[in-house]
Amino acid sequence: MTGIKIIPLMAKIGAEVAGLDLRDTMSDAQSEIVRNALANYGVIYLRGHKLEPKKQVSFTRVFGEPAINHNAKKFGINGSPEIYRISNIVENGKPIGTAKAGTEWHSDMCYAMRPAKATMLHARKVPQLNGFALGDTSFANTAAAWDALPITLKEKISNLRVIYDFTRRKRGAKPSKAAIQQYPPVSHPLVRSHPITGRKSLYVSGESAGIEGKSEEAGRIIIEALASHIVHPAFVYRHSWRQGDVVVWDNCTCQHKAEVDYDLPLERLMWRTTVKGSVPK
Ligand code: OGA
Ligand code: MN
Repeated sequence: MTGIKIIPLMAKIGAEVAGLDLRDTMSDAQSEIVRNALANYGVIYLRGHKLEPKKQVSFTRVFGEPAINHNAKKFGINGSPEIYRISNIVENGKPIGTAKAGTEWHSDMCYAMRPAKATMLHARKVPQLNGFALGDTSFANTAAAWDALPITLKEKISNLRVIYDFTRRKRGAKPSKAAIQQYPPVSHPLVRSHPITGRKSLYVSGESAGIEGKSEEAGRIIIEALASHIVHPAFVYRHSWRQGDVVVWDNCTCQHKAEVDYDLPLERLMWRTTVKGSVPK
């Protein structure tokens, strides 16, 4: 008996994973169930945890090898460089984390040759207004979006490649010179297959810079049409955070977006880890 309960949501995406105490060491059977839940549902969440940094890193290992983010030098946690802070909190006049991580729909590290396989956020502080949580994160199922396309369109787009350019991301903070050098422009298949399930999904968003072999304008039209198709409400789950949540998403099966509807003095703090991924195929 693993004691784990997987509770799928009504949406086409997302499941709650209940019955696990993340302070305990997980058995191989438990790890397997959780890994498969992530692959099948795209996003999983576990509620009511308070993880020590080392425990978050070891839970991250269930999904693969943790990566070290280029922002960890500035916004990392002492002793656990795999964790980096997403936060709007300012201490002694200095921000303790990235305040607005991903306010446009995106898939993490799509600009890298090997984008992150999965991302985990552990909610330490959730902004509250009159008892309601703010600062939700929305997730869109890119596999369901692919399934829903007409077959003629599927045939037309299935061999296209999308160009990603780190310097053209729509982000609040300007990228550092080192990061620009680390991430030269790269192209990935527009339709990629999941490394575990084999399921196809669309891999394109407003962060895409162009389509290989197409003019700037023709590329833009394809990108915009597909990017807005992916985030149709039918494919979206919006996570309302509670302190202690651990949410993990699969960057192949879904895209996500931070809903920034709060500001100081309301504070938000997430501990973020990512799992290294392979070259999309
Ligand atoms: C991220 C991200 C969304 C959020 O950490 O990659 O996009 O709601 N975060 O903080
Ligand atoms: Mn992100």
